Formats: sequence, C-alpha cells, structure tokens
Amino acid sequence: MPVEYPTLARTLRSLTEGERDAVALMATVVCEVHHSDDRFDWTGFYRVTGPEMLKIGPYQGGHGCLVIPFSRGVCGKAARTRQVQLVPDVETFDGHIACASTTRSELVLPVFGAGGQLLGVFDIDSNKADAFTQEDAHELAKILEEVFLTVK
Ligand code: SME
Repeated sequence: MPVEYPTLARTLRSLTEGERDAVALMATVVCEVHHSDDRFDWTGFYRVTGPEMLKIGPYQGGHGCLVIPFSRGVCGKAARTRQVQLVPDVETFDGHIACASTTRSELVLPVFGAGGQLLGVFDIDSNKADAFTQEDAHELAKILEEVFLTVK
C-alpha cells in the first residue's frame, strides 16, 4: 500500500502544531513516516551541527553513522546542494555511505527552517531497489516545509 500522504500530513499537522523545537519535531516526523510504509527500512534526520558537518538526529531502524561531512554520501550531497537526492540504486552512487549493507535505494531531502536556513537532511533508506518515486519526494518535501516552517 502506498503512503496516504494527505492523512500523514494531517496527522503530523495535529501532532506538531505549536511546537518549535527542531528535535521534538524531527522525532515526531520520523516516527510517523517510518511506520507509514513497509518500504521504509531506515528513517532519520541528520542535523547540521557545525560547518559542513551533519550529525545523527532522531531515527528509527538500525544504528546510523554518527557523523557525515557535507563532502560525503547521499546525505552530504543533499546538504551541500540543498537539493533532494533520489537514488534508485545505491551501488551506482559514487561515495555512498553504507551504514547498513541491506540498503538498496535512498531518498534524502534537505530540511529548512524559518529563515531558509539548512537544519539538516531527512534520509529514508529502503532494502528494496528503486523503492522511491517522485511523488514520495514531492509529498515529503511539502510535509517537511510545513512542519519546520517555525524553527528558528
Ligand atoms: N546512506 C547514507 C548514510 C546514512 S545511513 O545509511 C543511515 C548516505 O550515503 O548518505
């Protein structure tokens, strides 16, 4: 079953209304998204914690690498370019960081706060090849935009 994005968006809207703390919001988004679809085997945030540096944030699934520089991996590329990265086959992505050897495809979205500042990236990994669609990217970007709009 594909994700019911309107329902997911509505649930997140009601759960996060009035909350402005980035970590509280990230934890809530991760929980709801991770359990919304079987394709999502690892779901989590990496936060910008220093110059050109991402650190693990709230996530669900097996353990994630703790630190990812902007120069590395799919997450680093999403942070560096501030653009969504849809990777149908991680083996063809030069510099992919394999936190889990079971990961076959990934979708990573940049996350922006109130002033357009980069808060981090949202990473979903699947054990299925070619698991993600442009619809996933589009709908999740809309949800992230709405949820993190108030974060300073
Ligand atoms: N695969 C990611 C690293 C994060 S983990 O898989 C949890 C990447 O290449 O950016």
